[in-house]
Formats: sequence, structure tokens, C-alpha cells
Amino acid sequence: MSNITVCARFRPLSSRERRDYGDSICIQRIDDETFSLKDEKEGDFKFTFDRVFYETSEQVDVYTFLARPIVRDAMKGINGTIITYGQTGAGKTYSMEGVNILDCDEQKKGLLSRVIDGFFEDISSSGESIKYTIKLSMVEIYMGKVRDLFDLSKDNIQIKESKSEGILLYGVTKIPLLDPAEALQKLSHGLDNRAVGETQMNMGSSRSHSLYIFTIQQEMNKDIRGKYGKLILVDLAGSEKLEKTGAEGRAFEEAKTINKSLSALGNVVCALTCGPTGRGNHIPYRDSKLTRILQDALGGNSRTALLCCCSPSPSNAAETLSTLRFGARAKHIKASPNIESNEDKHAKVLIAPSPTEDDSRDRTLDKVRVQLHAEEVNWLQELSIVQTTLSHPNPAEDSDSDSEGVMICTIVSARHAMEELATGVEQLKHSTKELRRTIEVAERLVAHENAVNAAQHVCFLEKMLNRLMRLVAWFGP
Ligand SMILES: Nc1ncnc2c1ncn2[C@@H]1O[C@H](COP(=O)(O)OP(=O)(O)OP(=O)(O)O)[C@@H](O)[C@H]1O
Ligand SMILES: [Mg+2]
Repeated sequence: MSNITVCARFRPLSSRERRDYGDSICIQRIDDETFSLKDEKEGDFKFTFDRVFYETSEQVDVYTFLARPIVRDAMKGINGTIITYGQTGAGKTYSMEGVNILDCDEQKKGLLSRVIDGFFEDISSSGESIKYTIKLSMVEIYMGKVRDLFDLSKDNIQIKESKSEGILLYGVTKIPLLDPAEALQKLSHGLDNRAVGETQMNMGSSRSHSLYIFTIQQEMNKDIRGKYGKLILVDLAGSEKLEKTGAEGRAFEEAKTINKSLSALGNVVCALTCGPTGRGNHIPYRDSKLTRILQDALGGNSRTALLCCCSPSPSNAAETLSTLRFGARAKHIKASPNIESNEDKHAKVLIAPSPTEDDSRDRTLDKVRVQLHAEEVNWLQELSIVQTTLSHPNPAEDSDSDSEGVMICTIVSARHAMEELATGVEQLKHSTKELRRTIEVAERLVAHENAVNAAQHVCFLEKMLNRLMRLVAWFGP
């Protein structure tokens, strides 16, 4: 069993960072694997990863180190996953796509184009004896729903688990790729359908998590059974601090779901790395679509690589620290991709989740669901996840993932949870303001002829207002 590959990448300072904070940076290179980070509030930290790509690193360096070995293995029937993670504007999409998928000079081509080139290179060097079929699906998880980027009418794709294929997207479009040029055209078509918006932190901010799923089917001559590999590239949406991105209206709703699913991802990584091994440790994959789709990748049956994208600016040091802590924690995930499972479709053993604290939490929530409003149940659910994370750092699995690991894990989760709660509080305040305005209008109505009806209206709205105020009070000032 090996650990997943974790790398850090620092993009160059943006013109805005230079304008507002000058040329200073918060990291100092030690070597290709190690650097130190200085955060004004929290102090100095040293991090070591499998590889660190500094500001002058090239796209090809990232591909060669992080992706090429996984592409080769996918061609041999070993599943792979490559995830870009980090703060908004940190360079996840740049690393994945490059500047423009169709019109990009060689130097700036991102992982997607290079992965496709890698597949076709391997096919042309494999000789005549093996025939390969490569197919591509593209989906995004937007506002909690999985959308097919090749067919927008499929806007709520269901996630299923099958004995033969593991986690799969039911009915998703799969487009065969015949050569690299045609594959890029298809990719570009799918990319045009993605949800992208402008925030104060990033002109072309991804407002959804994008997943590029390549399946590679081998057909051997004669009676030999071919292998089947799957490679998933995941360009996550970035975590956001609302006061920095200035998200409002729809962007605000998007930020809320983005932060929530990243929080679920953090909880899964924590459960995988902080808890006891064995059946007693329930992993909350089902808490979000993102973690459910990534269940195979995170659960071990995949070669997985994580690229932690960061800004080097002191103004973003806190977010960079949070991203790096997530990477350091994820490094403890063990992976043992199983080639046999892809050869013998029926040999796969699926691990049934065992009843745990999370299950009993779900049962309790089901009971109160009938008495409370949906929104209140959601809040309770979120609170109980946060509380579990904060109050039950489980005993460590081995000596190097002990108290320090649990602490990092708790800090990462708490940070995501706080961002999520802050978003929620903002929303409650906003709703409270709206309600006050509506009540004023309704009160004016009372003064006129429709007094009885309007009074009832006011009474109902006041009840709602009280409920919102109670919730606001719950989360503090
Ligand atoms: N390594 C790099 N070299 C040069 N420019 C970069 C690099 N990384 C990112 N950039 C630039 O920084 C900006 C933000 O990058 P990008 O869109 O990739 O961020 P992101 O992490 O995907 O953010 P979001 O979560 O909002 O989608 C873009 O203009 C991009 O071209
Ligand atoms: Mg992006």
C-alpha cells in the first residue's frame, strides 16, 4: 500500500497582488520537496511534499511528475485520479486546462491536453496486438447537482454503485476519442458549457467542480480478456472567503454550495486518516455528491494525485496555509489500486458501511425532520458534522498520524466549517432584513381596509423573523 501523491504548486504573483502588496512572498524554497511558509498571525511552518512546483515551474513539469505515471497505469487497467485543490484564483484551472484548450502554445498546455497526448502516444507505441478504445465523459457538480457537459438536458445525473464498475454516473454521455485533435475539439465543446463567473478574486472563476472521466478499454487478440482503466481529472471550485470575493446573489449561493462540498471533502479525508482502521470507521462519502463520486479515488482503489494550488502572496497566507494543511493530511491516505478488479468484473468486493455515530445522527435527523422546517434540519445536520469533527478527534492510526495529524485535520475541517457557517449567517442576516422590509409593507396594509388578512400576514412573518433571529443568535454575533 502506498500513499497518494501530493504536490504543491505556487503560481506567480498576480498583478493585483503586486499592486496592493508589492513583490514580497510568504514562502521560501528549501529544495524541490520542502519550503517554509510565513503567516503573520500563525507563525512559520515547514512543509514537505512529493514535489513542490514554484512560481517559475512549467506546465510540462507538473504533467511529467504528477500525471504521466498515472496515465501509463490507466492504460494498463489501473484506475487513476488527479485532483487540483486550493483557494479561488490559485491556479487549479490553469494547471488543468492551460490558457485555452484549443489555442494554446505548447509551453502553456495544461494537464488535460497532455493527458490526451499521453494516451495516444501509448497507443501508438503499443503495437497491433492490443486495440484500445478511449471514451470521455465530462460533468460538473453545480449547486449540488451533477450536470452532463456533453448533454445539458441531463442536468441531474444520478450516482450509482455497481459491482462491476464501482461508482458510476448513470446515463452519462461517453464520447469516443479517435485522435488528439478531435479529442480537444470535444473537450472544448464541453468546457463551453461549464458554469464560470467573475469574482473579485478571479475573472474566470469556476463556479462548479468539473470532472473529466476517461475510460480506457483494451481489447486483446484471441481469448485474452482485456483490461479496463478509468482516469478522472477533477478541477475543483476554490474555497472562498466572502469578504474577499464579494459574492452576492447567485454567486453567494454558489459559494455556499462550493464551501459545503469542500467541507465534506475535508471530513472524508479526516475520517480516512484520523480514525481507527477497519469497519468501525464510517467514512461520510454520502455527505456530498463530490465525495460520493470520488469514493473509489479516496477510498484506495485508484492511484491518486493531489495538486495543491496556492498563491505565494502574504495577503493570502492564511488560505495557503489551510490548503497546505489539507494536502499534508491527504498525504496520509493509503491507496492500493486493484488491477484484478478491473480484469474480473465480478470479483470486486464492496465494503458495506457499518452502523456508526454518523448513522445514528442521520436517524435522529430523520425523526426531527417531520417536526422542523427543512432549513432548520439542514442547519442541525451541518452543526452535528462540525461538532463531530471538533469533539471526536479519533485515536490515531499509527505513530506519524497521531496528535499532530488529528490537530491539522481538525483545523482544516473547522476552517471549512467556519467559512460555511459564516456564509450561512450572512444569508440569515440578509433574509432577516428582507423580512423586516416585508413586515413594514404588511403593516401599512393593516392600516388600510384589508386589516384582518394583513394582520395574519404580519403574525406569520413575525414568527418567521423570530425563528431567523434565534438561528442568528445560535451562531453568535
Ligand atoms: N502557474 C501559473 N502561471 C501563470 N498564470 C497563472 C498560473 N496559475 C494561475 N494563473 C493565472 O491566475 C488566474 C487564476 O487562475 P485559475 O483560474 O486557474 O484559478 P482557480 O484556482 O481555478 O480559481 P477558481 O477556484 O476561482 O476557479 C488566471 O488568470 C490564470 O491564468
Ligand atoms: Mg477554476
